Amino acid sequence: MSVAKREIKRITTHVLQAMKDQGEKISMLTAYDFSMAKILDAAGIDILLVGDSASNVMAGHETTLPITLEQMIYHAQSVIRAVDRAFVVVDLPFGSYQGNSTKALNSAIAIMKESGAHAVKLEGGAEIEESVRRILSAGVPVMGHLGLTPQSIYKFGTYSVRAKEEAEAQKLLEDAKLLEEIGCFAIVLEKIPAELGAKVAKEVRIPIIGIGAGNGTDGQVLVVHDVLGITKDFNPRFLRRYLNLFDTIKTAVESYITDVKSGSFPSEEEQY
Ligand code: KIV
Repeated sequence: MSVAKREIKRITTHVLQAMKDQGEKISMLTAYDFSMAKILDAAGIDILLVGDSASNVMAGHETTLPITLEQMIYHAQSVIRAVDRAFVVVDLPFGSYQGNSTKALNSAIAIMKESGAHAVKLEGGAEIEESVRRILSAGVPVMGHLGLTPQSIYKFGTYSVRAKEEAEAQKLLEDAKLLEEIGCFAIVLEKIPAELGAKVAKEVRIPIIGIGAGNGTDGQVLVVHDVLGITKDFNPRFLRRYLNLFDTIKTAVESYITDVKSGSFPSEEEQY
């Protein structure tokens, strides 16, 4: 029987570690609102990420940079209200932690206190070490995020695969070891060669969750709007779509409009 199903009501960092130790893969998706989180939790997802990708898929921005701490807290509160079992991680948004560990600590505390989330996620390695240490010292679990870190998109210039060169791959491995050593409970690796993803998962004891990081990581994360086909124009190689909800919903709404215009809705049975 899987670690998660054995009488476990709530997923915790300890359950996630046990999953890695016993070779059970960890499932993770984003969630930003109550209704979707309720469905994902009922399906048995292990981790829900209130990602700053809400900036793209919920608010329509081009990057993750504009979303604010207050907006992240609003999304996190909605998700937390829906969840009975999943472990809920919330992204610290751009500008809420970089270069100032006191600000980082206050941002993490605000998220935990005001939303009831279970952990926070920060992008970066050695350059945010002090912030990660201070958040951890307050008793807040921290998930790291290395590889393609979208909050640094203007530094990278493109969303292409990271750490293809030896030097960047070596730095990523060192950052992963550092995050493990200072006490992070897990790390997301985004858009890196599969071989490197597998190597990090092998050399680091804590769970490594990949997005475009191959099959050798300890789990996978995707943006739920991409998985369900609500987004249409985002088609990276790493994405597997399970539905085409954009077209399904569009067809349903077209039928509704037709029925309203023709007067066939509401029918006798649909009125008082
Ligand atoms: O915000 C997000 O959706 C993320 C995932 C891509 C891991 O950080």
